Amino acid sequence: MIKVGLDVAKIREDFPILKRKVNGHNLVYLDNAATSQTPRQVIDVIVDYYQRLNANIHRGVHTLSQEATDAYEQARIKIQKHFNIAKNHEVILTSGTTHSINIVANGFTSLLQKGDELLVSAMEHHSNIVPWQMLCERTGAVLKVIPMNNEGDLVMGEYHKLLSHNTKLVFCNHVSNALGTINPIKEIIEAAHQKGAAVLIDGAQAAPHIKADLQSLDVDFYTISAHKVCGPTGIGMLYGKESWLNKLPPYQGGGEMIAEVTFEKTTYADLPHKFEAGTPNICGGITFGAALDYMNAIGFEEIAAYEHELLHYATSELLKIEGLKIYGTAKNKTSVISFNIEGIHPYDMGTILDKLGIAVRTGHHCAQPIMDFYKIPGTVRASFCFYNTQEEVDVLVTAVKRAKNMLL
Ligand code: ALA
Repeated sequence: MIKVGLDVAKIREDFPILKRKVNGHNLVYLDNAATSQTPRQVIDVIVDYYQRLNANIHRGVHTLSQEATDAYEQARIKIQKHFNIAKNHEVILTSGTTHSINIVANGFTSLLQKGDELLVSAMEHHSNIVPWQMLCERTGAVLKVIPMNNEGDLVMGEYHKLLSHNTKLVFCNHVSNALGTINPIKEIIEAAHQKGAAVLIDGAQAAPHIKADLQSLDVDFYTISAHKVCGPTGIGMLYGKESWLNKLPPYQGGGEMIAEVTFEKTTYADLPHKFEAGTPNICGGITFGAALDYMNAIGFEEIAAYEHELLHYATSELLKIEGLKIYGTAKNKTSVISFNIEGIHPYDMGTILDKLGIAVRTGHHCAQPIMDFYKIPGTVRASFCFYNTQEEVDVLVTAVKRAKNMLL
């Protein structure tokens, strides 16, 4: 029995979508690692923006433009405070984690040379692999892989062996989207720095569960997407240390990112605008701030403790099903369970669960190398949020049993 640390019934009232029926059943939304749901406090901010505030920012002298600019910049301050970031202009607002990583990968093109080494963890999302492969193609740098073990932990001994003075960059997720493993990023960052390498941590899957203190981590770059933390899609953050962001060239050219433009020469704006070309996702930025407010009002320690209990309950109940195997059994993990039942394709399982109103993700989860490691086509992934309940876990377990009986 889960000890209730949160008033989950009250929290669920905040999420209109959780009242939906899907295929005649109450929706059981367990695809939170793909995107979290949006509370009405955040939806209200979106509506308010378009009803009261809509204007382009950083451009107009008129009142609406100034109010929208203030609200957008207030959101940047909220994000800065949330992640304990030293300087406000180290917060770059992007369209999401993928955009953030591509800014950095593009920026390093002129800073690398043939033979430089980049280390990537074996459990990355494609968005933290492909931009670096493209960077290697442009520069002749070499991408090396920090291996993982069967439990879904990184083999840290091998990481330390791979690090050398040729290592220029290390990339790793804070939490694996496919397995839920929480990686030892403090150790990863410290060891990389000892060799003079910079570190980018993809925090997309950590952000809903862990409030990262970026100054204490001393990380060089950290990326997140707002839609994983009850915010909207199409907005995210690139944190970069000021010294690095000043070294990197802009990613896109256009309005807003310039100091002065003539046909002979253009000079660039100061941070953060140098990396924010074009009209940004203004409503998204403001709403991102509201989403962090919402989650902070619940409290990240309370969220983590509750989700930990849900994870343990769901793990033990699912493991009672014969033939069910969980991928990703690290001691330190978030509320993500990737599983298969012997003889059943994850897609078939996912389709039946959907018919029963349960939303899970099936497939390779944009992390094909992990599936190759386990020699499987994919998994069924149930990912839990603070608004999920023990009863929903029971519905999942019953449905998995039913699907198993239908499919085998
Ligand atoms: N990266 C997201 C996931 O893991 C979309 O599902």
